[in-house]
Amino acid sequence: MARKKGDDDGKPDGDSSGIETLRVLVVHGPNLNLLGEREPEVYGRTRLSDIDRELKQLGAELGIKVKTFQSNSEGDIITRIQEARGKVDALLINPAGYTHTSVAIRDAILALEAPTVEVHLSNVYRREPMRHHSTIADVSVARIMGFGAPGYALALRAVRGLVETARRQRA
Ligand code: DQA
Repeated sequence: MARKKGDDDGKPDGDSSGIETLRVLVVHGPNLNLLGEREPEVYGRTRLSDIDRELKQLGAELGIKVKTFQSNSEGDIITRIQEARGKVDALLINPAGYTHTSVAIRDAILALEAPTVEVHLSNVYRREPMRHHSTIADVSVARIMGFGAPGYALALRAVRGLVETARRQRA
């Protein structure tokens, strides 16, 4: 059920419009700190700091509190997802190279129990076969790829609907 302003549940209130503020964690995996410099013909020229700033701005417009995190370390990504348990309504994640190998990130997503969107800048199916497998595809509610940096904003715009659908399915 949607939280109402003033509910004493220890969770953030909605704003004065009565719309519940959602909490979304955005996780960026290895080498995405080099966005803008790294293989720009594949990943574009937008920097990660620009993506994060735009997501926070868009979140403010949509009533979504956005927190972002990048790490090159699988363990740090898992720890950050664990820390988010019970504290976020949804996860957007680009596990980058770990997409294709990490059972442990998949397990962390399962333990999170929040709708998860898998995001990729490139369309991995147009690339080497090793990138076609994702360990998290079937534990994500949606996947978005091939739009470059704007794909993150597309995912964020869709998040409220995905959260509401997930809640209805649990109810
Ligand atoms: C990526 C695709 C992965 O195969 C690759 O290892 C990345 C980025 C993408 O966003 O297109 O680092 O996740």
